[in-house]
Amino acid sequence: MRVPSGEHTKQNGVDVGNERRGGDERIPVGVVGTGGMGGMHAYCLHRKVAGARVAAVSDVDADRVGKVAEECGGAAVFGDAVEMIRDGGVEAVVIASPDPTHAELVHECLRLGKPVLCEKPLATSPEEALGIVEAEVEAGRKLVQVGFMRRYDPQHVDVKNVAASGAIGEPVLFKGWHRNARIPAGVDSGWVVINAAIHDLDSARWMLDAEVREVFVRGLNTTGSSVGELDLQLIQLTFADGRLATIEVNVDAGFGYEVGVEVVGASGTAYTAPPSGATVRLDRGFTQKVDGDWLDRFEPAYTIELQEWVRSIESGGPPSPDAWDGYASLVVAGACIASIRSGKPEAVPVPERPGLYAGEATGVTR
Ligand SMILES: NC(=O)c1ccc[n+]([C@@H]2O[C@H](COP(=O)([O-])OP(=O)(O)OC[C@H]3O[C@@H](n4cnc5c(N)ncnc54)[C@H](O)[C@@H]3O)[C@@H](O)[C@H]2O)c1
Repeated sequence: MRVPSGEHTKQNGVDVGNERRGGDERIPVGVVGTGGMGGMHAYCLHRKVAGARVAAVSDVDADRVGKVAEECGGAAVFGDAVEMIRDGGVEAVVIASPDPTHAELVHECLRLGKPVLCEKPLATSPEEALGIVEAEVEAGRKLVQVGFMRRYDPQHVDVKNVAASGAIGEPVLFKGWHRNARIPAGVDSGWVVINAAIHDLDSARWMLDAEVREVFVRGLNTTGSSVGELDLQLIQLTFADGRLATIEVNVDAGFGYEVGVEVVGASGTAYTAPPSGATVRLDRGFTQKVDGDWLDRFEPAYTIELQEWVRSIESGGPPSPDAWDGYASLVVAGACIASIRSGKPEAVPVPERPGLYAGEATGVTR
């Protein structure tokens, strides 16, 4: 619900919208977590996105949050995320704190009727994500957008549009590759699926516009770790209609960060080219820049994602990708983890979409 400037409204006993002052009609956003992603979202909201402003920031790290608040023109600072979400001066929320905090904070936003852009993954398990879907269905309107920002990356969108146009014939195979420079300390194979591969699982669903029915995962430990994490995983997906996908997730690739997709159609293929920068031919060699991490590679996508989220709040239109996409990707992720453990293909029990999400393709095509 948009609340006009200066108007006092109560939602579930909490003041909403009473802090818009001085005729500033921009939506006051609160950002939870001011690390790499939260810092990027706050920066984009403050500097690049129209129609919204960073009203508040929250982090358990007082130094970090203070710095980001200052960079955002003096946003209010909160040590407690729930307190910030409940504050009357915050009308919409971006969640960019660690994965295990997401579900509880999204539930708080739903309880208060505040639109929320939650970083991926929506939750840490399919069961937790289903709880969010059920709460949103109970609320009767879509308030949750999930941070699958590749759906806003211009290159990915071009590939999706070519695939959807019919120009390459019926899309029959999705191929994705996702390489990070190094693996964070102390993570396991499940983390690689739920934190990293989750993006690729969503891209596959989105590009082929279908739900996954079976997965099979093989992996290698390339780091020599004694506990056996699979930092290199090859994921095979079979969709409900028999079409296929393969995904390489390599979270210890060493050389830098690289993400790409290809959609193979019955009569042609479409794929993302290496991103920006000059291609240099020199000394009998041929070089191109490789990004350092996702913040380098996807900054334009983060900005477009936030801008579209703000527009959806302004217009009352549905956010996308939505809680269902967050949930369905986690169901596929859960089956991938089961396949790693069993060494066998595993069925993916994606249920029927509730009416709130029915009749929609698996996301935006701009
Ligand atoms: N969409 C993407 O491309 C992308 C990329 C990286 C990370 N992410 C996601 O973004 C989220 C944050 O990742 P990151 O890389 O920025 O991590 P990070 O460690 O850099 O930052 C997390 C921040 O959250 C703070 N924090 C911890 N608990 C908190 C709490 N209870 N309330 C408020 N703040 C709290 C930490 O102090 C830290 O400043 C994760 O969920 C991650 O999966 C998404």
